[in-house]
Amino acid sequence: MELRVTGGARGLSGTIRVPGDKSITHRALLFGAMADGTTRLSGPMRAGVIEAMENCLGALGVEIEGAQESETLIHGIRWQTPDRILDCRSSAATMRLLMGALAGSQVRATLAGSARLTARPMARVADPLRRMGAQISALNGHDRPPLSIVGSRLRGIDYRVPVPSAQVKAAILAAGLHADGRTIVHEPAATRDHTERLLCELGVSLTSANGTLSMEPMSSPLPPFELGIPGDLSAAALPLAAAVLIPGSELTIRGVGLNPTRTGLLEVLGEMGAQIEIARTAAVEIEPSGDLTARYSDLQGITIQGGRVVSMIDEFPILAVIATQAHGETRVLDAGELRLKESDRLSSMTLELRKMGARIEEHASGVTIEGPTPLTGAHVSSRGDHRVAMALAMAGALASGETILSGAEVIQESFPGFATMLRSIGVQLQ
Ligand code: S3P
Repeated sequence: MELRVTGGARGLSGTIRVPGDKSITHRALLFGAMADGTTRLSGPMRAGVIEAMENCLGALGVEIEGAQESETLIHGIRWQTPDRILDCRSSAATMRLLMGALAGSQVRATLAGSARLTARPMARVADPLRRMGAQISALNGHDRPPLSIVGSRLRGIDYRVPVPSAQVKAAILAAGLHADGRTIVHEPAATRDHTERLLCELGVSLTSANGTLSMEPMSSPLPPFELGIPGDLSAAALPLAAAVLIPGSELTIRGVGLNPTRTGLLEVLGEMGAQIEIARTAAVEIEPSGDLTARYSDLQGITIQGGRVVSMIDEFPILAVIATQAHGETRVLDAGELRLKESDRLSSMTLELRKMGARIEEHASGVTIEGPTPLTGAHVSSRGDHRVAMALAMAGALASGETILSGAEVIQESFPGFATMLRSIGVQLQ
């Protein structure tokens, strides 16, 4: 599918909402499915990556209903061995979180996914789980999916995660929930802590200090719960960037998740000179949230490295677009993990933005972008990556002339209403 974006947008405006947070929705579905009883989620993400998790849980015997448009009910139950392969499609979170939960379950299952998912690293999850006693075998060797898991009695672990990854951490914690003994995880940098917040809320004894988490196992099933899920900051980053980059714009995005382990892009934009107001909502839920108002701003280049990369790990495609309009050099360092996402995002953004005239150089673990550069409409490709697709659509809105984005159907994976949202704020597209 092609998306044709008319360039030269001016004066974007409006008050909008974005889909519910992807990471929180994935965790809430998983732990709701493991719970004993009915869990109610309000404001969950409804998109391809979430359907992947829902379908896998359905195959394990868990009934999931989209009760009303903005609510999902999960009828948690003891899992059954599925009669089909669990298809995680292109969702790494679905596969990695399920690996952890299945490892300590009483069922056996095989996890498979798209060609791209099959190429993404799973040994980082399989290794610690095996140390806990998990039985995981890769049918094609090298810990590449399909992965066959036979649920077993696990023991707790004291594990130093080699690369910062919230998915690895979540998988280990899901496995440790019903293991024998305590599970301890040391992180090299702080990753998103949605799993810890939710498990603590559910009564799990879990503490976290100075990069080390310690969790006691539960002797009973998790209790069912009610959870309000805030808007996804990674989705909000797209219209936010458009408002900052397109002259005459002012835009408000309501109810966005502001978990401090996720707000790296907001900090970076602030340091670059962006005018963004943050109105925090009173803390009633376990995840902080608020309204963001962004205005057209003059930006300066910046260097992003170390732990900050982790706190904005999904925002680099849109950051690359932002950097083309900032004065001077923007350098991204320590970001080799971006090569292992839905596409190699360092190379995807370099190759595609160059077609639009951007001055961008790729390095082994980062990029350098020179700005400001007027972008020109071009024929670009999503490279099968939803975040690359949406970032390029935003680049198309601020470019001159028309941008034709091929492979735009991948946007359905995380933001089915993306085109409607763009039209509502004043971007023209077909
Ligand atoms: C996620 C963690 C990150 C992120 C992904 C969602 C999660 O992946 O890129 O979109 O839900 O835990 P890694 O754990 O591989 O860094």
